[in-house]
Amino acid sequence: AMSVFVTRRIPAEGLRVLSQASGCQVQLWDSEEPVPRSELLSGVSGKRGLLCLLSDRIDRQVLDAAGPSLKVISTMSVGFDHLALEEIKKRGIRVGYTPDVLTDATAELSVALLLATCRRLPEAVEQVKNGGWTTWKPLWMCGCGLSDSTVGIIGLGRIGQAVARRLKPFGVKKFLYTGSRPRPDCAAEFEAEFVPLTRLAEESDFVVVTCALTPATQGMCNKDFFSRMKKTSVFINTSRGAVVNQEALYDALVHGQIAAAGLDVTTPEPLPTDHPLLSLKNCVILPHVGSATYATRTTMAVLAANNLLAGLRGEPMPHELLL
Ligand code: NDP
Ligand code: DGY
Repeated sequence: AMSVFVTRRIPAEGLRVLSQASGCQVQLWDSEEPVPRSELLSGVSGKRGLLCLLSDRIDRQVLDAAGPSLKVISTMSVGFDHLALEEIKKRGIRVGYTPDVLTDATAELSVALLLATCRRLPEAVEQVKNGGWTTWKPLWMCGCGLSDSTVGIIGLGRIGQAVARRLKPFGVKKFLYTGSRPRPDCAAEFEAEFVPLTRLAEESDFVVVTCALTPATQGMCNKDFFSRMKKTSVFINTSRGAVVNQEALYDALVHGQIAAAGLDVTTPEPLPTDHPLLSLKNCVILPHVGSATYATRTTMAVLAANNLLAGLRGEPMPHELLL
C-alpha cells in the first residue's frame, strides 16, 4: 500500500487524485492551519510518501520520525528552502515540486505589488477613507512610474523573466539582472545586462527580487545594498523573506535612503502585527499571496499529488527536483 501523509487541507482536486489512486491510503491534517510539529512527527511515521507545504520545515527530525519507509517528498511549492536536501539525498528520498505552473500568477502579483508600492495605492485608498482627500492637488500623492526607468532583477529565473516580460510594455528603458552567472539566452528577450549586485543596486529605479533562497542569497539585501540604492528607488521582494535583512530595510525606509518597499514575503511569516515595518507608510506588505489564484493553487495541488504518486510508483515525476 502507498501510505501518505498530507500536512494540510489542499484544494479538493489534489486530494481527489490521491484518494482515487488505487492502493493509496491518505492521512490528512484536515485544517487550514499548519500541522503542529508533534502531529507532523507522528503523522509521517511509517509513511511512504509526504505531501507538504513551504511552512513545514522538513529536517532530520522529521526524516528520523518518518523512518526508512519514506521514499518520496512532494512539496506544493516551487521553493524548496524548507527541505533539508542534504539529509533527504543521503536517505535516497525523491523530491517533487511545482515549478512553471505558478510562474504567471506570481509574476502578476509581483507587478501588482510594484505598481501598488510605487504609485502608493494603499496610502491613497486610506486617504479616501479617512477624509485626507480634500481636493485635487498638484503636489499630493505623487509617486514614481516605470516609463524610462531602469529595472534590476535579482534572479532572472522563471518568475524573474515573467516579471520582466510584463514590465517591458510599461516603457522600461533598461533591464539589469544578477545571479550566479550570466544567462544570455534568458536575457536576450529583454536585452538585459548582467551586472554585479552592487551595480544593480546603484543603477536601478526598481529592484525586484525573484531569486531562490540559498546560503548565497540569504541576507543578500543588506545595509550595504540599500545604502547603494537611489533615494528615489523602489524595492520589491516576492522570493523569500530571508533574502532581506529587515533591520537594514527598515533603516533605509525610515532614513529616506530608498523611496519605498513592497514585500510579499517576510521573516517571520506571519509578520507580527506590531512589527516596525508595518508602521511605515512607504512599506507595502502582503501575506505571501504570490501564487494565490484559484486556478494556480488547484493546479499546484494536482501537480503535487501527481508528483507524489509517480514517485511512489517508481515512475518519472511530472516535476522532480534532481538532488
Ligand atoms: P528559478 O529557479 O527559475 O529562479 C531562481 C533564480 O534564482 C535563478 O534565476 C537563479 O539564477 C537565481 N539565483 C540563484 N542564486 C542566486 C544568487 N546568488 N544571486 C542572484 N540570483 C540567484 O525559480 P522560480 O523563478 O520558479 O522561483 C523563484 C523563487 O520565487 C522560488 O525559489 C520561491 O522562493 C519564490 N516564490 C515565491 C512565491 C510567492 O508566493 N511570493 C511564489 C513562487 C515562488 P542563477 O541560477 O543564474 O544564479
Ligand atoms: C512557492 O511555491 O515557493 C511559493 O512561495 C508559494 O507558491
